[in-house]
Amino acid sequence: MMFLRSLQPIASCSRSASRILPPVAARGPRLTRFVTTRTTPYHINGQTYPLDDHSNVPPTILAKLDRNLHLNPSHPISILRSIIESHFSTFTPVTPSSPILTVTQNFDDLGFTPDHPGRALSDSYYLNKNHVLRTHTSAHEIETYQKGLNQWLLTADVYRRDEIDSSHYPVFHQMEGASVWPSSELYKLPQMNAELASKLAECPLIIEDTSSISPENPYQKSHDPEHAAQITQHLKHSLNSLIFRLFGPIATKDGEPLRIRWIDAYFPFTSPSFEVEVWWDGDWLELLGSGVMQQPLLNRAGVPDKSGWAFGLGLERLCMVLFSIPDIRLFWTEDPRFISQFTPGQITPFKPYSKYPPVTRDVSFWIPDASKKGVTQWHENDYCEIVRDVAGDLVETVQLIDEFTHPKTGRRSKTYRLTYRSMDRNLLNDEISGLQSEVERRTISEMGIEIR
Ligand code: PHE
Repeated sequence: MMFLRSLQPIASCSRSASRILPPVAARGPRLTRFVTTRTTPYHINGQTYPLDDHSNVPPTILAKLDRNLHLNPSHPISILRSIIESHFSTFTPVTPSSPILTVTQNFDDLGFTPDHPGRALSDSYYLNKNHVLRTHTSAHEIETYQKGLNQWLLTADVYRRDEIDSSHYPVFHQMEGASVWPSSELYKLPQMNAELASKLAECPLIIEDTSSISPENPYQKSHDPEHAAQITQHLKHSLNSLIFRLFGPIATKDGEPLRIRWIDAYFPFTSPSFEVEVWWDGDWLELLGSGVMQQPLLNRAGVPDKSGWAFGLGLERLCMVLFSIPDIRLFWTEDPRFISQFTPGQITPFKPYSKYPPVTRDVSFWIPDASKKGVTQWHENDYCEIVRDVAGDLVETVQLIDEFTHPKTGRRSKTYRLTYRSMDRNLLNDEISGLQSEVERRTISEMGIEIR
């Protein structure tokens, strides 16, 4: 996708299927409308954002805008950030001030086609048709090059509408890293690459590079192929060494080498583009998207003489693995038993303070028929949004457990199992019944579903 779904933690999801395909003639943005029920404009940090038919940011999400987990030194997200910053010690750390960006900054400037699925209202949060909550840290590439920085690491919260389970949350954190060189310095790359390669050769590491330069994943025409190859090498060596720094100590404990895999990918703002995975717990874990910066983007940033690479890494996914954190909602808990366990600068396993019992509810309903005039296309993310809006972090998973089409009427039915569980306390049955009926009331009135 535009976005590696990978960068959202662990479980794969709808977006990853498109990740290596250019969004040519893609399914256009889904025209779902989950328009917020609010009636007054958004007021955020002294700015007013008038509502329109794009506005879909609910209060639960607005409340996350100033949590800044990545800036709290004892929080695992911040601990990981500073470990990566110390690994890339010559890179300048950058923290953008606001997650509210224009659609131009988040999508257009990076070369997203007008019909790119990442722009869909079902997948992104819009304050109105001109402003989104940033969906990825790449949205800050241009402004950071404009500042004149050549090597930088930018960490921020990013927002994507999503399904609900233990590894997906509508707010998560990404780190964007980049290294660019003025053309007069590119001659240094072979030497730097040789040094990096010799350090890597000492590490117990197997690198499976399945990527290849091809018409689908080419060097750019405006680049000297020699230089493009050197930049690509430098990107690969740099990220291999970071991944070994993070995973090596744990992964190689049993004497096995760490396995890293490089595969071809597609992003509108890099070419060639790659995705990187690490062999973890018997499976390939997607870690990051990366590539050689598209030259037109650097030209637009006012640095046409520079070229180089960038990557974007999802921090929650990495933290869940490295700190053994079982549920993504824990990152957001304000229970001191969570945060007090961690020490700045150290990766230590999370010790669950307790596991409270889940409460489940099943609900079956007919979904509205979108072929009828005026009826909106059903989208699961809209349903999840209402569930989160009502139940907040008490909802653990929303799982589709059955669906069928009525043979005579052609109506479609879905059955979802909602699992509620608190990270911090026991739930009361009555409390959940109250939440469940509010979910039903809102899905009936806002989505037009009919309970079976
Ligand atoms: N922004 C991309 C994503 O969200 C990741 C990426 C960053 C890819 C930088 C290439 C270069 O998936």
